[in-house]
Amino acid sequence: MQRQLILVSALTLALLASCSGKTSGDSSASGDSVKFVTTQDGSAMEIKSELFDTPAAKEFLATGKNSYVGNADAVTAGKKLFQMYSCTQCHGGDAGGQTGPSLHGPDFKYAKDATNKGMFETIWHGTNGGMGAKGKGLMDPSDPSNGLMPDDVLKIQAWVRSHNEKLTGNE
Ligand code: HEC
Repeated sequence: MQRQLILVSALTLALLASCSGKTSGDSSASGDSVKFVTTQDGSAMEIKSELFDTPAAKEFLATGKNSYVGNADAVTAGKKLFQMYSCTQCHGGDAGGQTGPSLHGPDFKYAKDATNKGMFETIWHGTNGGMGAKGKGLMDPSDPSNGLMPDDVLKIQAWVRSHNEKLTGNE
């Protein structure tokens, strides 16, 4: 009887070990990451995975979800970045629109901007209609170190989304 118990516990342990091993293997596999496309023509765009250097950015790369939406600290940081990177000049101090469109939604010029992955792509790589690329290495051809990191874009997005509680972009 006791031998049977030991056998059962050993089997359970082995099962647990193989399960957890599988999960960690899956999440670290590079094949699991989001496939980005440009807003200009939908063609594939490569963003170096090492630029995703925070837990939120890594989660976004793996799932397309922005965990900063609804996070008060990220919203405050995003508001600052929105000013620092002159987004206010074209989109207005509250992102409600100026020479550039309102970013509050739910209607967007590019329908995919209702999702966080879609809006990320628009900010990162720009559009053909007057919105320049803001991603690191793309914003300023003369200085590859210039531009927003993925984590910055996610914080800006958290601030932008804070103006419309019905649209988290993670739906
Ligand atoms: C020089 C002016 C200018 C600046 C600076 C600027 N934008 Fe824009 N943005 C535009 C214009 C114009 C459009 C409309 C583009 C189009 O019609 O293709 C736009 C479009 C967008 C869109 C898509 C909106 C939609 O309806 O689909 C997003 C998102 C956006 N901008 C975010 C930002 C963010 C974030 C920043 C700062 C990092 C920024 N923009 C800086 C001019 C600007």
